[in-house]
Amino acid sequence: ASAADIRRGLAGVVVDTTEISTVIEETNSLTYRGYPVQDLAARCSFEEVAHLLWHGELPTGAQLTEFRAQERALRPLERTTAELLARVPETCHPMDVLRTAVSFFGAEDPTEGDDSPEANRAKSLRLLAKLPVVVAADQRRRRGLEPIAPDASLGYAENFFHMCFGTVPEPEIVRCFEISLILYAEHSFNASTFTARVVTSTLSDLYSAVTAAIGALKGPLHGGANEAVMHMLEEIGDPQRAADWLEEALAAKRKIMGFGHRVYKHGDSRVPIMQEATERLVARSGDPETTRLATLHTALRHAMAARKGIHPNLDYPAGLAYHLMGFDIPAFTPIFVMSRITGWTAHITEQLDHNALIRPLASYTGVRQRAVPAAAS
Ligand code: CMC
Repeated sequence: ASAADIRRGLAGVVVDTTEISTVIEETNSLTYRGYPVQDLAARCSFEEVAHLLWHGELPTGAQLTEFRAQERALRPLERTTAELLARVPETCHPMDVLRTAVSFFGAEDPTEGDDSPEANRAKSLRLLAKLPVVVAADQRRRRGLEPIAPDASLGYAENFFHMCFGTVPEPEIVRCFEISLILYAEHSFNASTFTARVVTSTLSDLYSAVTAAIGALKGPLHGGANEAVMHMLEEIGDPQRAADWLEEALAAKRKIMGFGHRVYKHGDSRVPIMQEATERLVARSGDPETTRLATLHTALRHAMAARKGIHPNLDYPAGLAYHLMGFDIPAFTPIFVMSRITGWTAHITEQLDHNALIRPLASYTGVRQRAVPAAAS
């Protein structure tokens, strides 16, 4: 291949078809199974969106009742699993705990080896139900607190707050969280989803694909950016410093976290919805510390637009929102996993439905063929 044929980072390369989601170019609007994500965020629960991504249609009332009952019943962890996860060193990142958890769920699943669509649906639901339990217990243990068992009378989002904090905040806060889950759920062939599809394309199992996807999401150029946004805001500190800090960071060739996107070059279509939700959280708070952070957040956004013309991606408002909801920074990317598990597993099913081994080529630039020296043994 000539240098001109090489598409580094697979930028602009179309590798397969998908029926799950797309960004409509004319309107710059993300759709899941044809529905604009802003309408789903305005009208649906996260459970309805999960059903939509997996089954192609929003659930009927009866289907939703059944879906919810199944998800709630699957939440509790085996005692042995909970014990194992409590032994993972606290010095590691919570994404490592989650990656270990999914690997372990695979090892303890008696249906492992059955990759029929039905078995994979059951595995997907099992992960959807159990991942929040792991994320919440891990945040609590790092705070020196005992885990709180899931409550089957609570919805997905409410139950997560209950397991993290022992209380469920006001509905408006829960709704902001649910909106973030809906917006994070699916985004076509992003790096982690593509990773899951690569693993699946070898006919490996769903748990292996999800474990690998978690590894891909962890990086700061992908899901890890929502945590990096908060670290960056903490580093800047004073809203007055935003523009000077940006100059220094750009001069040092740093990437500004929460800005830019491979697909959206004129703004991420999910940002306005999440930004509004975050502003509602700020307005409710009235706390000077929140006002300082929100002012800084806005100042950096304006400085970046003026200086580079680069817009925020979803991680920019979501990072601040998760902080305002009371979650610890290292839990932000694990929360992203709790949502994206729906998109990943929808793609795993789709990959198996019309599988082709994913195996690209490389243009070799290493040493040309040569003889092994006689002395080598
Ligand atoms: N800060 C500074 N410069 C940037 C940024 C940024 N955040 N994003 C893009 N640029 C510049 C980049 O340096 C390049 O400039 P030049 O042409 O002078 O070299 C130009 O814009 C084009 O960028 P690119 O790196 O070719 O774009 P890409 O499509 O390869 O990268 C990206 C996309 C998301 C990796 C990148 O924008 C980035 O590193 N952003 C920061 C990390 C981040 O927020 N990631 C979250 C991504 S979206 C949601 C998610 O997956 O969670």
